[in-house]
Amino acid sequence: MNKQVDKIRIEIQRLKKLPTLSHSANKILHLTEKENTHLDELINIIERDPHILSKTLSIANIICLGYSEPITNIKDALLKIGFNNLKNVALSVSIFSLFKPLGEKELTYRKLFKHSIATGVISKYISSAILDNYEELNETVFTAGLLHDLGLFALHYIYYEAYIKIENLVLRGKNILEAENEVIDLDHSIIGKWLSEWWGLPEDIGEVILYHHEDPGKLDNKYRKNIALIHLANYIAEKSGYAVYNGANESVFYESGVYSILTLPDIQELINTAKSELTLERINIL
Ligand SMILES: [Fe+2]
Ligand SMILES: [Fe+2]
Repeated sequence: MNKQVDKIRIEIQRLKKLPTLSHSANKILHLTEKENTHLDELINIIERDPHILSKTLSIANIICLGYSEPITNIKDALLKIGFNNLKNVALSVSIFSLFKPLGEKELTYRKLFKHSIATGVISKYISSAILDNYEELNETVFTAGLLHDLGLFALHYIYYEAYIKIENLVLRGKNILEAENEVIDLDHSIIGKWLSEWWGLPEDIGEVILYHHEDPGKLDNKYRKNIALIHLANYIAEKSGYAVYNGANESVFYESGVYSILTLPDIQELINTAKSELTLERINIL
């Protein structure tokens, strides 16, 4: 292992000690729909934090496409998007806020943030409106979509210099994994998996984080449907104007692998549907 990788591993390990999950995020992570008191608890946690509140309401409005009246309070959001979605959005927002930078890093952070929201919204839409086997998919695909690039947030936060070098390589035609391996000799999916384990995120989300750039058709993994869905949603987000870096070959898309697992209309049709149905431009006001 070279010095660069050693250095990054040490930084990531340090990171493990730095942004531990906030008290609110930890509580949200362990709330369950089954206990009635948890409904009020979730509302209280979100309402107490103005940042989580405003971002959660904005994202709830994006996923609530069919409603003409905007969601303006958290009880309304609970009613319209349900306990689990609300919980997952609030958890993701509080995780993203751990990595929120100031100054020059803000622009790249916002692109990453928007890419994550777009991937979450697209994966939720495909799983609920297009796939027949929705029930078979774990309900956490939405959160997995939101958090799939957790490792990129961490990399951006602790190693911005490397992040920018990677961006330059991607803009010159490398795919994201090639570029990361060239600069840091590891990639964001591994960093994200470390963090998900450290924080005790659900196993299925950790597996999506680890494998979302792999060919799902070649994976022997019990979450391969979720992985295939997020792999697809990530690609559609990129092709709909919500890429992390805007590189032409940013992510390798394993189309036949995805289609061997999920029954879907063709990819161009899906991209067009996402663009026309999802009013993704609402993400820009976040
Ligand atoms: Fe990724
Ligand atoms: Fe991504």
